[in-house]
Amino acid sequence: MKTLAIIGGSGLSELDGLQQSQEVSCSTTPYGVPSAAIVRGRYAGREVLFLARHGRPHRIPPHQINYRANLWALQQAGAEAVIAVNAVGGISATMGTGHFCVPDQLIDYSWGRVQTYFEGDLQQVTHIDFTEPYAADLRAELLQALQAEGCDFSAAGVYACTQGPRLETAAEILRLERDGCDIVGMTGMPEAALARELGLPYACLALVVNPAAGKAAGPISLADMEVVMHHGMTTARKVLGRVLAGRS
Ligand code: HPA
Repeated sequence: MKTLAIIGGSGLSELDGLQQSQEVSCSTTPYGVPSAAIVRGRYAGREVLFLARHGRPHRIPPHQINYRANLWALQQAGAEAVIAVNAVGGISATMGTGHFCVPDQLIDYSWGRVQTYFEGDLQQVTHIDFTEPYAADLRAELLQALQAEGCDFSAAGVYACTQGPRLETAAEILRLERDGCDIVGMTGMPEAALARELGLPYACLALVVNPAAGKAAGPISLADMEVVMHHGMTTARKVLGRVLAGRS
């Protein structure tokens, strides 16, 4: 069985229920310091690695996350596949709050983030194929688990990655919608591309925690987001447990 790593985003800084957990000693990497110590433990009876993307406590904003160090450290710790959990805003009408989405595509609107391992003192310029940014097998495992858990979910969707940390304007969301985006978050990239560069199968479990800007009357309420996040991430943990339990 391939060792699975989970990267927890907002609302999932800990994997409650992780047993026999111990911190992996990897305080730094050639790319700097990861967001937090990686925790190795057993979840649903299977070995898993867990990393809190925003640190513990939740303190690193999306544009300052050291995505390279995080993925590098996970691979060093033995990760052979990665499931990323992301809180997102809903753009399409089907993406209501509390809805899950396993995106099959993404568009990157972020800027100024280090995007690659392939730079500096190279023997040869290297490009990765990124036509399908998410791993089909891992996505299928997530979809099966969401179905078994009885969740409200979309089996595909386009994830827009914005720079943050501010939320978007209503006009920006209309532009993303015209571009074909269904959900919007701030942390999906360059994480997905870096995982591909390392050869790590990667999939995203996105939880819609608010209607994106302009998609509901009035401003976005952070308090409302917290409530949806709390409830939704409890369900996300169950979904992850099912994924792990179903792995052979
Ligand atoms: N926009 C960007 N990122 C987000 C949102 C949003 O509306 N909600 C949660 N993460």
